[in-house]
Amino acid sequence: MSIDTSKRQPKNVLVTGAAGFIGSNLVHYLLKRWPDASIVSLDALTYAGNLANLKDLDDVPRHRFVHGNICDRETVSTLLDQDIDTVINAAAHTHVDRSLLGADDFAGTNVGGVQVFLDAIKQRPHIRFVQISTDEVYGSQAPGEDADENYRLTPRNPYSATKTGGDLVALAFHHSFDLDVVITRCCNNYGPYQYPEKMIPLFITNLFENKQVPLYGDGLHARQWIHVDDHSAAIARVAESGRSGEVYNITSGKGMTNKEMTAKLLAITGKDESLIKYVTDRPGHDRRYAIDDRKIRTELGWSPVVDFDEGIKQTVQWFVDHKSWWEPIKSGQYRKYYEEQYGKRVEQ
Ligand code: NAD
Ligand code: TYD
Repeated sequence: MSIDTSKRQPKNVLVTGAAGFIGSNLVHYLLKRWPDASIVSLDALTYAGNLANLKDLDDVPRHRFVHGNICDRETVSTLLDQDIDTVINAAAHTHVDRSLLGADDFAGTNVGGVQVFLDAIKQRPHIRFVQISTDEVYGSQAPGEDADENYRLTPRNPYSATKTGGDLVALAFHHSFDLDVVITRCCNNYGPYQYPEKMIPLFITNLFENKQVPLYGDGLHARQWIHVDDHSAAIARVAESGRSGEVYNITSGKGMTNKEMTAKLLAITGKDESLIKYVTDRPGHDRRYAIDDRKIRTELGWSPVVDFDEGIKQTVQWFVDHKSWWEPIKSGQYRKYYEEQYGKRVEQ
């Protein structure tokens, strides 16, 4: 397959979920990569959205924040009419454990929000829609097996089921109405500004506080981990050159068990194994995610550049340096969720 040279140059970009982890890192990245582009950041500011993640962009004239919900048709239409040529949809409800407690918000945003956008883009078919999805839509892979873009879709928790729903709605609008839709499916991300309910920031910050880290089940569930900047670069590449109607997997190829990841975090923070607490497993916990991303590498010429050991050390350092970012989250509204969630999980 030859590398696609018909590069689009986005000029007016709408990034949704822009006050979340990936969205905020992506906005920072895109402002540098596309120096002539203006970016509108849209976010509903749910518990996971945090304006502090975009604070340093307050005085950047090419950037503007809008507080709004992707399920709101009027908000979406009004924004799209402001000359937008590219939408990157990173807004979602994203935490598997929360989706097991209640999935209304997940279905509403992850499926319904996508449909609202596509209905609006039907009237504005010059707009490219980039849907940020996840490797979790493929469900669990057996040892030695990697999921490429044609792998069966077998999501097995409410979060991944609703992400799959969003992908299918987006592809259906491409096929039915010839809309310019591209989908990315990435492995697990790590990096700055990740909300401390997710494994890596939760474990790092618990270790700083000399609290135990709750490892689910036997700790042998495996994930692939990519630095958020490598994910952002892949998203930009897909927005520029991805073929309409196509899906692109994105991974670092760096797979490891949760126990191995925990050992790395213990080593970096200088703590010992007494801080590991094996707790009741997550219901329906997918055993292994492993994807094959040869398509984006060969077709679009993307590959990750962040070395895992370096990236994870820098991430730990970021949390050391940004206590003022995560401490209020952990001692605020999030605490009730954490206490309920982990109060139910008994030691194994
Ligand atoms: P996050 O939970 O940190 O951020 C999600 C953001 O979306 C929040 O700022 C939230 O306020 C906003 N949001 C939620 N519902 C909204 C709505 N209805 N309207 C507007 N904004 C809304 O999540 P994240 O980790 O940054 O994930 C971003 C995207 O990347 C998601 O689509 C997720 O499925 C995908 N993804 C994440 C990972 C990962 O490891 N974090 C891996 C692959 C794909
Ligand atoms: P998470 O960061 O929630 O991402 P995802 O479920 O989307 O992969 O979890 C990563 C892995 O870590 C997953 O296998 C579940 C596990 N995990 C724990 O063992 N303990 C925890 O407290 C959390 C939040 C996750």
